[in-house]
Amino acid sequence: MKASVVLAHPYHGSFNHAIYKQIMDSLTVAGIKIFAHDLYVEGFNPVMTVGELGKEPSEDLLVQQYADEMMQSDLLFFVHPNWWGQPPAILKGWVDRVVRPPYAYDLPEGALSGLPVPGLDGKYAVVYNTSNTEEEREVGYFGDPLENIWKQCICGFCGIEKFHRRMFRIVSESSETERNDWLSLVDEDVKRIAGE
Ligand SMILES: Cc1cc2nc3c(=O)[nH]c(=O)nc-3n(C[C@H](O)[C@H](O)[C@H](O)COP(=O)(O)O)c2cc1C
Repeated sequence: MKASVVLAHPYHGSFNHAIYKQIMDSLTVAGIKIFAHDLYVEGFNPVMTVGELGKEPSEDLLVQQYADEMMQSDLLFFVHPNWWGQPPAILKGWVDRVVRPPYAYDLPEGALSGLPVPGLDGKYAVVYNTSNTEEEREVGYFGDPLENIWKQCICGFCGIEKFHRRMFRIVSESSETERNDWLSLVDEDVKRIAGE
């Protein structure tokens, strides 16, 4: 079994980094091969090129590597904070440039319905988010945009049915004990998912 782990947070001391490290520790214990990427450290350029608008492979070797690893992986982990109800731009650009046809999904010639042929079916996607907004306000007022973006717009579109997401909140008011409990939940998730 193989896993891709993608982190989008610029600060090394962030709780997002602690989640990222916990995922890798838990995957290592489970004996799973890991492709780990801290997008800020790698200096990923999130701006899609004209050449990437179609189905041709990207000319950017890093993008090709990410795509190749994603296709090899059984488990796809994404870790990022809630920024304006969205992933940070660096991860939005990763999705634009890496989750592309014809491998992640395909739109057959002449298909007028716009319905995609899924390419990531069978994979398990796991998303960890952090925020400073109460759940009631996030869901009731904002409409839980990150759940929709990841579950429906990205994973569902590409045929991923096995999906797990957690939002850790409120990070700015959290105690060390609470953050350690959250990391224990990540550990439990990874062990369970790796054993499925
Ligand atoms: C550009 C930016 C936009 C943000 N937008 C939101 C938001 O829409 N909702 C929210 O709850 N928190 C928002 N935040 C706060 C971050 O979600 C919060 O700082 C982060 O989740 C805390 O995790 P960390 O300790 O790993 O940084 C935003 C922060 C930044 C820098």
